[in-house]
Amino acid sequence: MMGLSSEIELSPEAVLRESEPLARKTTFRVGGSARFYAEPANPGDLVELLRFAAREKMDPLCLGRGSNLLLADGELPFVVFRLQHSSWRRIEELDGGRLRIGAGLRLQELCSAAARHGLAGFEFLEGIPGTVGGALRMNAGAMGGAMFDVVESVRLVRPNGDERTLGRDSLTFGYRHCSDLRDAFAVEAVLQSSGKNDSGAIRRTIAEFREQRKAGQPRESSAGCIFKNPEGNSAGRLIDQAGLKGLRVGGAEVSLIHGNFIINSGNATSGDILELIRRIRSEVFEKLSIRLEPEVQLLGRQWNEVL
Ligand code: EPU
Repeated sequence: MMGLSSEIELSPEAVLRESEPLARKTTFRVGGSARFYAEPANPGDLVELLRFAAREKMDPLCLGRGSNLLLADGELPFVVFRLQHSSWRRIEELDGGRLRIGAGLRLQELCSAAARHGLAGFEFLEGIPGTVGGALRMNAGAMGGAMFDVVESVRLVRPNGDERTLGRDSLTFGYRHCSDLRDAFAVEAVLQSSGKNDSGAIRRTIAEFREQRKAGQPRESSAGCIFKNPEGNSAGRLIDQAGLKGLRVGGAEVSLIHGNFIINSGNATSGDILELIRRIRSEVFEKLSIRLEPEVQLLGRQWNEVL
């Protein structure tokens, strides 16, 4: 750490390490280590970290809850950071049924805070294993809702350290993507509820969604849905129709509960999962003439190289 701390000056509360194993920081529980790993404690740390990444000619990469992510095996030449410090997880009620929230906050925490404040419209976030920042980047969704349904503005930091707030009208987003956050990092957002409701009623909706999820999605380690849903269809249903549930490569298996989930039965490698993804794609294409496209983010490799 001696060497590193002379090259980069972070506040005493920040974390900075080299060769950090990442598998356990992801929901899939596979993949290698980060060349550099940090937990900045404030915006100044974040800017310092981004400058360090530029000097090292490495891409900075923000890890949220580690879902929707497939990390390559081996050492990943990135400056990986997480917005773990409490300063990134604030939640503040604003007027007009709005909330200002830090990007490091977990969706589950957001969901229960909204219920506590009697604010409706956030129930669909229940059970999505993500942080606010990750959900913004992916426009994460479930139960018919998606993150950008509730966004009023997003505060983001560009890799060059520029920080700005973009209102909803200036942001470009769609199904499972937000172009403005492809390279920039969300640090805070203002969210708009759909109105006031009784906390008990909000909690009942949340509990219903939880039950639906429990019944229809596996509990084992996974990255969530692997493929995007083709327009008007469900990738899970197509994989099921192609008879691929239970298909295995090494420790990776197509879930018996939902076809669009690959589960890590305990000893899967990233390579096993990639091979299984290739097989699913080619079988679905052969049998149903539909080309499935991955939803999960692949880090350390490029999809077009591996598919
Ligand atoms: N289905 C099957 N077999 C399967 C899986 C699904 O026949 O193995 C059928 C279901 O019976 C249902 C239909 O396909 O009739 C749709 O299934 P589901 O309700 O599970 O929704 P989905 O379209 O497969 C989407 C999101 C999920 C989200 C659920 C619930 C995508 C790629 N998936 O799945 O999001 O949790 O709706 O709202 O958009 C994710 O993004 O990581 C994710 C898991």
